[in-house]
Amino acid sequence: MNHYPAFLTLTDKPCLIIGYSHRLSRQAEHLSEARAQVTWISPTQPSRNLESVNVIVCKQPIDELPANLDDFWLVVAETGSTEMDKKIADYCYSHKIFCNLSGSATDSTFQTPAIVDRSPLMLAVSTGGSAPTLSRVIKNRLEAYLPSAYSEVAQFIESNTQRVAEKFTSRTERSRLWHRLLLDNISQLNHANGVQVLEEKLLAALDATTDEKDDAQKQSQIGQVALVGAGPGAPDLLTFRALNLIQQADAIVYDRLVSPEILDLCKPDAERIYAGKAKANHAIPQPEINELLANLAREGKHVVRLKGGDPFIFGRGGEEIETLAAQGINFQVVPGITAASGCAAFSGIPLTHRDHAQSCIFVTGHLKDGSINLNWRELTDPTQTIVVYMGLTGLESICTELINAGRSKETPIALIERGTTRHHQVHTGTLHTFAADIRKKSITAPTLLIIGSVVTLRQSLNWYD
Ligand SMILES: C[S@@+](CC[C@H](N)C(=O)[O-])C[C@H]1O[C@@H](n2cnc3c(N)ncnc32)[C@H](O)[C@@H]1O
Repeated sequence: MNHYPAFLTLTDKPCLIIGYSHRLSRQAEHLSEARAQVTWISPTQPSRNLESVNVIVCKQPIDELPANLDDFWLVVAETGSTEMDKKIADYCYSHKIFCNLSGSATDSTFQTPAIVDRSPLMLAVSTGGSAPTLSRVIKNRLEAYLPSAYSEVAQFIESNTQRVAEKFTSRTERSRLWHRLLLDNISQLNHANGVQVLEEKLLAALDATTDEKDDAQKQSQIGQVALVGAGPGAPDLLTFRALNLIQQADAIVYDRLVSPEILDLCKPDAERIYAGKAKANHAIPQPEINELLANLAREGKHVVRLKGGDPFIFGRGGEEIETLAAQGINFQVVPGITAASGCAAFSGIPLTHRDHAQSCIFVTGHLKDGSINLNWRELTDPTQTIVVYMGLTGLESICTELINAGRSKETPIALIERGTTRHHQVHTGTLHTFAADIRKKSITAPTLLIIGSVVTLRQSLNWYD
């Protein structure tokens, strides 16, 4: 991160605009809306009507630095002269005055973002001056996503903060109440009556009897664990339920395969605990993870145990909830897109197909004592697709054992590297030469194998590349 994002309180603070351009007119408006005391030194009278926005315009040529620059908290300049812009920037820098020059991101000490104004809700989008068009494109998309009704929603919350604090004394309780009210009614917030819906629900919560409130409070103080499938990597492959739980969690215990983009979705104050597990490098041993989840829930936390793919497919999710069940802790399981589905879809390889495969089996190629413990004879049906998780290390052995058990050496096979992510790559071949081909390449985990004639469909169905 090259910049520190912040919103400034500029009420009654003197701010200066120097130069003339449409961009400066917009900055004058924004500063005046933020109730700053705005002075604008301009060589020409601004064409925009600025009477309504409380800006003092000083019409004068800009051939020297304004005498009273030290009086201002911040300066926005675009004089049309690179030399004068630089002089202003240097002066501001040496006098610790924040300065923005439209022509030079490097000489500026702050950037003016593209904004979506739903005051008091405000969204600012910035690329630090490096790609302003991208900021504007994103801002326009956000404008469409957040209709103006959100302004009323934000005002409603602001005006009820005190009332809620009187009834719900703990910060956690208040945060959970608002979270629940907003998420339960999210689809209505876009509509004109969104605030009315919120108001009814809030009144019901505030009018709850002490007993009801005690019950609700007790309920909210009981911790719980959600075992959540984070999918194979791409964040937009999460389910809605997974997203809601991640955004509400007080603590997130996550695996190596959970992408950083997904972790960024959690609350900023949520505790993040890395539970590991690269091959032979478990950051926390499994029995300790099981106990950790139980302990966090006993502290009253809403815990999300985030696992790559689906928690019940080679994810040891069963063991984790066995401990929770034995200790009487509330839990739920949220399915995720397993690597087999994600990798197959993004590679254009249907796992079943009327003309190729009528069944599909998921197996683990994990080595135990140097060999793979699979019933090879059961894997010889040419109309069955085999998906091998954790099969890279044992690839040679998998190919040889399948051929020895009777599967044709010409059987197509695909290895999918970092499936569904932007590094997604597919390598294809046939059983008898594939291991040797792969050995010559540099492959990055995680990888998945798909074996069977469905792999040939990729030639016509591949869409992701
Ligand atoms: C311990 S298993 C967990 C599987 C997970 N629970 C699921 O449902 O996908 C980890 C293995 O899943 C496979 N895997 C997970 N994500 C993958 C991805 N994005 N691309 C390829 N393989 C992946 C790899 O074989 C990896 O070694």
